[in-house]
Amino acid sequence: MDTAETGTDTGVRFVLAPASPDVHADCARLRELGSLVPVEMEGVRAWAATRHATVAAVLAHPDLSRDISHWDPRGRAEVRDGTAVRRITFDTSMLNAEGETHRRLRGPLARVFNARRVEELRPWVARLAAERVDRLAALPPGPVDLREHFAYPIPRDVITELMGIPPVLRSEVNELTDVAAGVGDTPVDVTEARRVLYGLLTEIVEGLRRAPGPGLISALVQEGELTGRELLDTVELVFIAGHVTTVNLLTNGARALLREPAQLALALAGELSWSAVVEETMRWDSPIAHFPMRYAVRDLEIDGVRVRQGEAVVACFASAGRDPERYGERACRFDAVAPQPGHLSFGHGRHFCLGAPLARLEGEVSLAILFAAFPDMRLAGPDAGTRPLGSVLGNSTRSLPVLLGE
Ligand code: HEM
Repeated sequence: MDTAETGTDTGVRFVLAPASPDVHADCARLRELGSLVPVEMEGVRAWAATRHATVAAVLAHPDLSRDISHWDPRGRAEVRDGTAVRRITFDTSMLNAEGETHRRLRGPLARVFNARRVEELRPWVARLAAERVDRLAALPPGPVDLREHFAYPIPRDVITELMGIPPVLRSEVNELTDVAAGVGDTPVDVTEARRVLYGLLTEIVEGLRRAPGPGLISALVQEGELTGRELLDTVELVFIAGHVTTVNLLTNGARALLREPAQLALALAGELSWSAVVEETMRWDSPIAHFPMRYAVRDLEIDGVRVRQGEAVVACFASAGRDPERYGERACRFDAVAPQPGHLSFGHGRHFCLGAPLARLEGEVSLAILFAAFPDMRLAGPDAGTRPLGSVLGNSTRSLPVLLGE
């Protein structure tokens, strides 16, 4: 967030833009301003929920809808620095639907991603992580970027395989997904990347319609419960929601442990569970900073603030995870040893993350295998892992240079 405060008719307005040197410092400032704060994000004026209780209330609110048709476009912010309202993606996916439509779109995927079926994937995910560890060990000595060589490929391989993307198209799909998700160093045309990705996914779906294969896309085509457009939007959503978020989780978890050797030692000794490490990472360093907009279907009041019909509200997950009202004086400390109250970083209520069991599994398995293989791993320097991702949605570091051994 290149956070600036600008004067407006409603008072101070934060601009959440994608280049903040410190997302958590910005979040602390937002919390100081209140529990529901006027902001500008990606060309939209919105209310940002900053406190745990307020974020929970917003996510579960029956009259705050993910359906963009409730948005009043007068909430468009003045265009500056080329910022414009981006094409709203995944238009007909569950993420943007409510009520019966939401249930219909979520149902077929919820059956696949439920906790029991995901648990069956544990040995397979462990094999993928072990393969990555072997490749890390084969790299020449010197600093290695853990994000690029470990955190990044595991969730990517998991999601492409589960979806059933034909192997010859995987690298192309992956490259486009990264660009579409706004990850990377060079400024790119996200809208164009999404258009190309969409075209490629259309081809893949059509191919699997003619010749079914293993994986989720084929299963959805066979079930026939979603229209062609819904299916494509769903596939695109799962790719983007299921990949980069989990890369951030693995990166943030590894970075936290490398900075907390005592907790790492407990985890390696089996005295601290990897699941506790993952949950604390989710709370303390939420893989998603702020996301996504909801729109008031009528005038309403939250924490004494009047939200008018058609106005947008955004959940600040990174802020909720460090809210002292919920987590007390330990709010800003990574402490996986003493259990903390639950977090909201997978959402709450009807849109609760469909992939939470999978992301948790990937986090636990990958971190356990990584640190077991390289118990002496350390950050490659004082600045390692301090360069922010540069995405308004994601919260992580762009690279994580480490030295693998002594
Ligand atoms: C929804 C976070 C991994 C698929 C969400 C939401 C959050 C979230 C906060 C709620 C959005 C809202 O309330 O509007 C995360 C994080 C992840 C992660 C932090 C990794 C650490 C995954 C994975 C998948 C996935 C691995 C796919 C397999 C989805 C889908 C939704 C969703 C499909 C939409 C659910 C709905 O609208 O009903 N995620 N997610 N996510 N997530 Fe995840």
